[in-house]
Amino acid sequence: MMHKCKIGIIGFGTVGKGVFKILNTKKDNHPILKEIEIIKIAVKDINKKRDIQVNKDLLTDDIDSVIKDPRIDVIVEVMGGIDIAKDIIIKSLNAGKSVVTANKAVMARFGYEIYKIAWKNNVYILFEAAVCGGIPVIEPLKKSLKSNQITKMIGIINGTTNFILSKMSSENSSYEGSLQIAQDLGYAESDPSADVEGHDAADKISILTEIAFGGKIKRNEIETEGINFINLKDIDYASKLGFEIKLIALSERINNDSSDSLPLNTWVGPTLIPKGHPLASVEDVNNAILIKGDPLGEIMLYGPGAGSGPTASSVVSDILNLKSISFTNNKKGLSTFDPLLAFDFWRKCHLIESAQIRKKFYFRLICQDTPGVIGKIGHIFGTNSVSIESIVQFDATDNEAEIVVITHEVTKGNIEKSKTELNSLTEVKLIASQLNCI
Ligand code: NAP
Ligand code: HSE
Repeated sequence: MMHKCKIGIIGFGTVGKGVFKILNTKKDNHPILKEIEIIKIAVKDINKKRDIQVNKDLLTDDIDSVIKDPRIDVIVEVMGGIDIAKDIIIKSLNAGKSVVTANKAVMARFGYEIYKIAWKNNVYILFEAAVCGGIPVIEPLKKSLKSNQITKMIGIINGTTNFILSKMSSENSSYEGSLQIAQDLGYAESDPSADVEGHDAADKISILTEIAFGGKIKRNEIETEGINFINLKDIDYASKLGFEIKLIALSERINNDSSDSLPLNTWVGPTLIPKGHPLASVEDVNNAILIKGDPLGEIMLYGPGAGSGPTASSVVSDILNLKSISFTNNKKGLSTFDPLLAFDFWRKCHLIESAQIRKKFYFRLICQDTPGVIGKIGHIFGTNSVSIESIVQFDATDNEAEIVVITHEVTKGNIEKSKTELNSLTEVKLIASQLNCI
């Protein structure tokens, strides 16, 4: 009989329980799923009441006993956090076990070190679930799209923030209420500031950037802004001007033949998207990513970006990949090692400085409603080489007006100079919002 793939799961929360359900499904799925056996599940609190029926003998609060269990071939890390999770992953790889993880925070910060350890031990670190929940994007970048030179990726890659923005836009719901629902549905990180401040999306675009462009980048250099300061007024004004607001992550190559290191423009931020753009209609917890490659052209991957079932689907697909490799090896005597699936860096990359990044911007300015104010604002932008696409006045009260400005594409450096001058203009009481536009 074939050797079963024996796994130890570390973490039995939203994702861990989803994995357990898939592996214990009574549905008419492929019989290979029956070749995966859960040997142990590590949790923090072994006595916690759980909303799932599980044999108590499977549970342990001793993570090391799972890593060291000689029966276990694959460690599934779905616990979260950074330091302890990183140690678990490294210890498991050094123990000669392949690891499947959903942990973007660890892979974005320590991917380079972890790949090396996996290679050294002739095992795999797979992490499809770490980016875009149920959407296969990492394996396509590693394998199916490998014949291409990837030029650009732009997408909505955080489910929680897309859920919040969708609720605010379609139901006029409050930011706080929408976040609470996203937490109740298991979409948010244990510290949801990672979602709403954009760090989760930055982790994910960092992982995708390294795989798509082939070089290590510095995660902490990714310019990152979240949605925590967006209010219903911005959503309303954007809509009146023909835009949706989404948390966008972008990474693109800047062609520069003179450097031995590939320059990349990579950022995360709340962004106005024209309503006709394919990303504008991505709602709720869904994610989508447009990937441009040469000679491919552009493709869009779309689907649920968080949640138990979708994320577990990606975790189990990684376990199946490991199972299939060992099957190939046993039956045909071929090498166990798939270098594309294992992934390694092949070039140098670096991020361009934020002042060099060219973007279109949206500003909401709270101003005195006095004659000539629009002219003065326009003059400040003009003298700083910022060309304006539109400038509109909303909500004029007796002596206050909200002025929305959308610029053409400019460098962040010129925008910063304009902001300094706007702040010193008596008529401008406050720069209430600054968002990106595409
Ligand atoms: P979760 O619901 O909070 O579950 C965490 C699990 O880990 C719990 O079972 C907890 O044990 C266990 N745990 C925590 N600290 C532990 C420790 N020190 N020792 C042993 N066990 C410990 O988290 P989750 O939402 O499933 O997320 C897990 C990972 O998947 C994270 O890296 C997250 O970023 C990633 N992810 C999540 C989603 C999603 O939609 N939720 C999507 C993609 C990726 P107890 O049950 O005893 O408390
Ligand atoms: N908190 C993450 C999100 C989970 O909302 O997208 C999926 O990675």
